[in-house]
Amino acid sequence: MLDSIWKSIEFQQDTETPSWEEFHENSKTGHFDKALTNEQVLAEMANLYESFPYENYKSIPLPDTFAPIDNSLLESVLNRKTPAEMAPSTITLEQWRTILHFGYGETRDNKDNEYISRPFRTVPSGGALYPLELYFFSNGFIEGLEPGLYHYSPAQNAVQLIRPGDHRKVIGESLVSFQSHIADQLSAIIFITGVFNRSIFKYRNKGYRFVMIEAGHVAQNINLAATGMNLGVINIGGYHDRMMDQFLEIDGLNHSTIYLNGICAGNS
Ligand SMILES: Cc1cc2nc3c(=O)[nH]c(=O)nc-3n(C[C@H](O)[C@H](O)[C@H](O)COP(=O)(O)O)c2cc1C
Repeated sequence: MLDSIWKSIEFQQDTETPSWEEFHENSKTGHFDKALTNEQVLAEMANLYESFPYENYKSIPLPDTFAPIDNSLLESVLNRKTPAEMAPSTITLEQWRTILHFGYGETRDNKDNEYISRPFRTVPSGGALYPLELYFFSNGFIEGLEPGLYHYSPAQNAVQLIRPGDHRKVIGESLVSFQSHIADQLSAIIFITGVFNRSIFKYRNKGYRFVMIEAGHVAQNINLAATGMNLGVINIGGYHDRMMDQFLEIDGLNHSTIYLNGICAGNS
């Protein structure tokens, strides 16, 4: 009996093309794909947010200065690791600004650039379209930021308090069960989300791949900033997508959680 169930599962796997394979094939750039003109791209971008405004929420300015980064780039690359033991520790607002700015901060405004309508950031982006948003939960360990869910505004160098409160329970429940406890062990958790249409309107299915790739760029910068300042960092893909999207109050289809970076005490 058991044997035949396994056989039927095996049979299905043999005959059905896995959806990842179909997606990969369908997202390849073809020689005959029609590209949008730069005018069409700029017209489309005029209808898209550079970053969600969260206008009616309390906005807290971040420092203009960066925190000292004690470790060299070489040391940070060589020493980055997932901490074996995690505990929250105090993070200064300057350190937090440094982590967010490394992740997705603006570097050049492009005001005189007629071809590019967005400021450039610390990370590259296909077509300079910047499809990502950063949210984070402060667990009360970031100086000057009460516990709560926040959104990062790169253009304003500020964060908006979306929902004050201790959200560790719902975040823990949204992580896969073997790691629910992590929610209690972190000073803060960054949620990298993707607003797919910002990239897909131009690159179609390949744009979806770009959104994922770009989240990796952001995450690695966050990893290096945190490690450089002797903080711990854990990267998390093991979460229940629908629950996490619900927590962030994003629709999960046009805008969905891609990746989490938890920040904790270093040297553990
Ligand atoms: C896409 C991705 C998802 C991950 N998800 C988790 C996770 O959910 N929980 C966890 O403890 N570690 C997670 N990790 C961390 C890996 O387990 C870890 O990087 C790997 O074991 C190598 O160890 P190192 O980070 O110390 O070099 C993830 C890493 C990546 C790149």
